[in-house]
Amino acid sequence: MADLRPTEILLSDDRIQKRVAELAAQISRDFPDGVHLVAVLKGAFVFLSDLVRHMTGRVTLDFLAASSYAKGTTSSGEVRLLKDLDYSLDGRNVVIVEDIVDTGVTLHYLQDILRARGPKSLRTACLLSKPSRRLVDVEVEYIGFTIEDRFVVGYGLDYAELYRNLPHIAVVGPA
Ligand code: IMP
Ligand code: MG
Repeated sequence: MADLRPTEILLSDDRIQKRVAELAAQISRDFPDGVHLVAVLKGAFVFLSDLVRHMTGRVTLDFLAASSYAKGTTSSGEVRLLKDLDYSLDGRNVVIVEDIVDTGVTLHYLQDILRARGPKSLRTACLLSKPSRRLVDVEVEYIGFTIEDRFVVGYGLDYAELYRNLPHIAVVGPA
């Protein structure tokens, strides 16, 4: 896995921008009284920043960071919360903003712990979804793109912490 780098472009900058604008409009329409976005660090930071700039109405933000143990070798749902939220979710319309839903383990865990904090509603927005990889059934109300089982980077997503800065989404492959 050491010599992987971005190869083919899967989703261009342009395509992503158009789709993110559509998602933002849809979320704004669904929450005319305002919405509280909870972004999952670090992967969602680019998606979030484009999303909020296309949203109208009252928008507030918070961040959390999570990491799954021994990714790829366990399906037991062991997720660690590395950074918790600054604000309460009590009575708010909350949308989790995540980069990608892969096995669903991380999102399932986050939805569980956030639901327990008493939001008025809880929905999820993911830029990408890889349904063929799902181990846990999770509900995602807003999905940017459904993709095949390929490892992708760019637009916030990393491989070994690299390539988050790419404006497009690329598949990684041998150099
Ligand atoms: P899950 O718990 O398997 O759904 O994992 C979700 C997390 O794994 C995402 O938030 C990403 O951080 C990471 N991930 C899954 N697939 C990819 C990928 O193709 N590229 C980069 N990160 C990925
Ligand atoms: Mg992530």
